[in-house]
Amino acid sequence: MDPDRWDPEAYRDFIRTEIPEYDRLQDELATATRGLVVGSILDLGVGTGETARRVLDEYPNARVVAVDESRAMLAAAEQALDRPSARFELRRLEDPPPPGPFDLVVSALAVHHLDEAGKARLFAQLHDRLRPGGRFVLADVVLPERAEDAVTPTDPTYDRPSAAAAQLAWLRAAGFVASIVWRDRDLAVLVADRGEPRRHAVDTAARARR
Ligand SMILES: C[S@@+](CC[C@H](N)C(=O)[O-])C[C@H]1O[C@@H](n2cnc3c(N)ncnc32)[C@H](O)[C@@H]1O
Repeated sequence: MDPDRWDPEAYRDFIRTEIPEYDRLQDELATATRGLVVGSILDLGVGTGETARRVLDEYPNARVVAVDESRAMLAAAEQALDRPSARFELRRLEDPPPPGPFDLVVSALAVHHLDEAGKARLFAQLHDRLRPGGRFVLADVVLPERAEDAVTPTDPTYDRPSAAAAQLAWLRAAGFVASIVWRDRDLAVLVADRGEPRRHAVDTAARARR
């Protein structure tokens, strides 16, 4: 996709016309991040910074790394977030994510630009980038089970939504414990947890040897 197609000024109104549930989707993503200890956040496809802003309301002291392939969108996010500690990286989702480790990875309305193999590869890379106990929250347009639920305008040249069930399968194959926490027609929020190290099993095995 041509990264210069994004105009941050027009985007804020345009996206709410295309996706009337846009703000709800962002709120559901932010809610799905709760309950963690978060010092570092990665936002993939940060756009104008809507997602990062809401997640930072949950974790005001966290450091943020924001990635996007559009210079204009990154500049808009940098201005909107106004956080000297935040890092903004011109990077494609097809490339390896920043090294981390992160406590939380979020992404809204960006991963559907990848094809199926690209999504599965990204999920495996994110599992590696998260600390044990960390979480990936994905809010995106998905292929709905019923054709009449496909209400979000998409363009087959750069939108490649996958079914939520397929994405759950790729997340689980990557090692995550994953579930769908919110769904409205062709929008969904998926939560993928990277488990803690299996200390209980190790402790039990060690006790048994004593
Ligand atoms: C629909 S906007 C979503 C922006 C923001 N996350 C939001 O929820 O408003 C998609 C964003 O993903 C970025 N993007 C799309 N494909 C990308 C790719 N392959 N690599 C990196 N960024 C990409 C675009 O530049 C754009 O900023």
